[in-house]
Amino acid sequence: MCGIVGYTGNRQVTEVLLQGIRRLEYRGYDSAGIALLEDGNFRVIKSVGKVAGLVEKVGQNGHGSPGIKTGIAHTRWATHGAPTEANAHPHLDSQNNFAVVHNGIIENYSVLRDRLIKKGHKFLSETDSEVIPHLIQEFYQNDFASAVIQALQQIEGTYGIVVSSKNHPGQLIAARKGSPIVIGVGENEMIVASDIMAIVSYTAKVIYLNDGDVALINPNNVEIRNIHNVPVSRGTSTIDWDIRLVEKGGFEHFMLKEIHEQPESITNAVRGRLDHANGTAILSGLNMQPQDLVAIDRIIIAACGTSLHAGMIGKYYFEELAGILTEVEQAAEFRYRNPIVGVNTLALAISQSGETADTLAAIKEAKMKGAQVAAICNVVGSTIARETERGVYIHAGPEISVASTKAFTSQVAVLLMMALKLARSRRFTQQEGIILSNEIEMIPELIQKVIDRSKEIEKIAKKWSGAKDFFFIGRGYLYPAALEGALKLKEISYIHAEGYHAAELKHGPIALLDPSVPVVALANDVLGKDKTISNIQECKARKSPVIVTATEGDEGMKQLTDDVLWIPRTSKYLAPLPTVVALQLLAYYIAKERGCPIDHPRNLAKSVTVE
Ligand code: M6R
Repeated sequence: MCGIVGYTGNRQVTEVLLQGIRRLEYRGYDSAGIALLEDGNFRVIKSVGKVAGLVEKVGQNGHGSPGIKTGIAHTRWATHGAPTEANAHPHLDSQNNFAVVHNGIIENYSVLRDRLIKKGHKFLSETDSEVIPHLIQEFYQNDFASAVIQALQQIEGTYGIVVSSKNHPGQLIAARKGSPIVIGVGENEMIVASDIMAIVSYTAKVIYLNDGDVALINPNNVEIRNIHNVPVSRGTSTIDWDIRLVEKGGFEHFMLKEIHEQPESITNAVRGRLDHANGTAILSGLNMQPQDLVAIDRIIIAACGTSLHAGMIGKYYFEELAGILTEVEQAAEFRYRNPIVGVNTLALAISQSGETADTLAAIKEAKMKGAQVAAICNVVGSTIARETERGVYIHAGPEISVASTKAFTSQVAVLLMMALKLARSRRFTQQEGIILSNEIEMIPELIQKVIDRSKEIEKIAKKWSGAKDFFFIGRGYLYPAALEGALKLKEISYIHAEGYHAAELKHGPIALLDPSVPVVALANDVLGKDKTISNIQECKARKSPVIVTATEGDEGMKQLTDDVLWIPRTSKYLAPLPTVVALQLLAYYIAKERGCPIDHPRNLAKSVTVE
């Protein structure tokens, strides 16, 4: 949560910072602020609401003058203190010597704050973050880096920070513990940010900080020390994201663009990874020899939200195809219930961002208990990717909309390839492997067929957009798809939506059905369809309208239900992929009809870096 940016160099700093936090807005968008070092003093501008409000304010006040070389900016997702201008970052110390932007939570802030108040420091906000500049001021004796390091030594909790000092113009200090920081290295300029989204326009060369690192950043060099003030060395990496991917490219919303990108993003996830001749998958990042694959006797998947739903599908793949006992854990639960983990357990984190705090904590816990750990991530170089010794990147490209779409389908495709690889090391024949590998190759085409039906889906969405409650039901591989359909609808349209196993409906929730509550039943022509039809009848008997997903050609479904979302014929393994795409479009068009802020739903942030 929260996006931070800092810049030092020769460009128009206001522009770099504002564009940076606009790109990071998916991390939080309840208030924003900027601190510019102008003529030896900080000029701070803040506004409540989205970055657009700040852009307007900065423009109106004419603070965009060229020649400004150093500045920091922040877009906030509130934890401590309401979204007000006073609580918006950057925060300064009482003497206005240091300005700080912070992402994370300072757990011992109230003790530190009381101590600082007793020493005469005046606080202006309710935030935990404000203690940081005051602590730096307290320790400052003309050595910027030492003051920051001593301040950080006092802090318990998590932080990604960028600090600017009026006594050290042109220099920034960035540090991380638990919240990501990446430094973009340019020609006589540096841009530091929470993630590469704010950097890609300027340079492809980046340095990822590790936890405990403190970086002294000047326009032409970066020096990194650890929290004990000892120099450490970190290599540079090259990012390969195309700048066009972080722009809307003619679509009204990033979510719609990302839905439409799925045939391509899945192609990228699969490219070069299928060995059709041998009927297996090549996943070199897993770095496992056949004997390692055979040794795995249990898989624990840890994830949150949409990634958790992908993980539920993964469980079915691993058990049914590879015969490996698999559990799926809500990541926050895993750490606190003292799980049983063995040396032959593979703990698999699934995370688009690679920064989700609960998923990261789960994987650390599994590692501590001796499990082998691996990850399926989208963001290259993210914390979870670096915490795990093995992994598979989904290569979906930047996912900017808060509602996850293309990451989900690519995660499922990667899970299926992993299951294929594990199955081939155990019970799959070469022929079975070849059949499945050929099927995986078909996913982009299946998804394109659903996208081609967008107009039909939009019509159905408009018809039901006034409902206040929805149920989504499914069985087998379509059960996690039902959960994902409900999550998409609730997060972007604010309609109360619940996903249930189709069989579970009559154990309670059926009491809520009436003519005002539509049920979306996933009744594709795969295993379980007949039983789902019985559940549809039960819903109809309670006069609930029923919208189904059904396999193209299954004309009987039209008689049985109010509306049909047509899905191309697939095996049960692939069924959730095109089906979820139809549900993404349904949610999108319902939210659009209701006039919702689709890419930035209220109260949400893309990257959940707090527990
Ligand atoms: O980055 P992650 O995949 O770890 O994020 C997990 C969830 O926060 C995320 O999937 C969230 O549920 C999305 N907003 C769903 O659309």
